Amino acid sequence: MATKWFETVAVAQRRAKRRLPSSVYGALVAGSEKGLTSADNTASFDELGFAPHVAGNHATRELATSVMGSSLSMPVLLSPTGVQAVHPEGEVAVARAAASRGVAMGLSSFASKSLEEVCAVGAPVFFQLYWSGDRDAMLQRMERAATAGASGLIVTLDWSFSHGRDWGSPWIPDAVTLKNALKLAPQALSRPAWLWRFVRSGHLPDLTTPNMALPGQSPPTFFGAYYEWMQTPPPSWSDVAWLREQWDGPFMVKGVSRVDDARRVRDLGASALSVSNHGGNNLDGTPATIRILPAIADAVGSELEVLLDGGVRRGSDVVKALALGARAVMIGRAYLWGLSVNGQGGVENVLDVLRGGLDSTLFALGRSSVSELTREDVVAPRDFFRALGA
Ligand SMILES: Cc1cc2nc3c(=O)[nH]c(=O)nc-3n(C[C@H](O)[C@H](O)[C@H](O)COP(=O)(O)O)c2cc1C
Repeated sequence: MATKWFETVAVAQRRAKRRLPSSVYGALVAGSEKGLTSADNTASFDELGFAPHVAGNHATRELATSVMGSSLSMPVLLSPTGVQAVHPEGEVAVARAAASRGVAMGLSSFASKSLEEVCAVGAPVFFQLYWSGDRDAMLQRMERAATAGASGLIVTLDWSFSHGRDWGSPWIPDAVTLKNALKLAPQALSRPAWLWRFVRSGHLPDLTTPNMALPGQSPPTFFGAYYEWMQTPPPSWSDVAWLREQWDGPFMVKGVSRVDDARRVRDLGASALSVSNHGGNNLDGTPATIRILPAIADAVGSELEVLLDGGVRRGSDVVKALALGARAVMIGRAYLWGLSVNGQGGVENVLDVLRGGLDSTLFALGRSSVSELTREDVVAPRDFFRALGA
């Protein structure tokens, strides 16, 4: 039998494509409209190079850091993602991988597993909230997260309900009814290994969102929860400040692209922000996050923790982001591919690939610790960087 271990994230992606029904794989790759932002997120990392040393390098390197008060074995977090029906254990497998590899995970509001189940695993969990429903509903969700043991809150703001993809959006059923199962059957039957995993677990893919349920309610379906969100008037900055006041602990705003927005996030007392464009799933044409990171890090990096997500596929990408001002990165698709291929072990495999690449890049650059990286370590082409709203 072929080994399940993969040596790069690209290999994991190829295997995920082979293993998953096409609509499920399509939902992971996503990207909106023409996919400009999604493509730039990854391609821009390739435009950056390194300035290595060949002697005087360090025999061992320190990778550990902390983010939002949680100690991490390396500066990589698992970003919140809502589509984890790629594996029966979903977010619980991700939490187990985070615990075994010493990193933190974001748990999406649209996750398929409950806060209680995921927090019980023991990894640091940052619960991710959207501005959805009325203030009472949001308060109840935050209280539930705090009671379950979440170590921090991530408020994701960069969503504009854009839709339409030039390659066609995959059909995702509202619930796995008999009728929908029959419609999906040809795709599912063409991927017997994926289907078999669910059959063995005794459950069909779960398309409900338990963390959006209010006390006494049964979990809404994904589309039910999405509808509530779409109907909610968008938040003002004072609404975001209100959220911050309600959460007594580390607080991150995810989805920042502009320097002026980063300053507002700092002013409302956030502990962290993530420079993010939702992995290119939102407004197409937003520049890659790595291009806009340095301007934001320069503006607010001494006052709150600046993270980056979008396009990270290698340990050397992590080094590039750190050298350009990030305290840590968050990954999305990379671990979803690992999860699809081999559950908890696949997520651990992705984290190990990133750790190996991070460590060997630090070695080549002559740095003994992730905290030593500077902009001189990275070579960028002229006109690479952008400063939005500076
Ligand atoms: C399938 C999928 C689902 C996602 N769901 C959420 C979500 O529920 N909440 C959220 O804040 N971000 C969500 N994101 C965005 C990720 O947290 C992250 O910003 C993005 O994936 C980073 O880009 P990368 O995939 O290139 O690493 C999702 C991304 C993908 C690919």
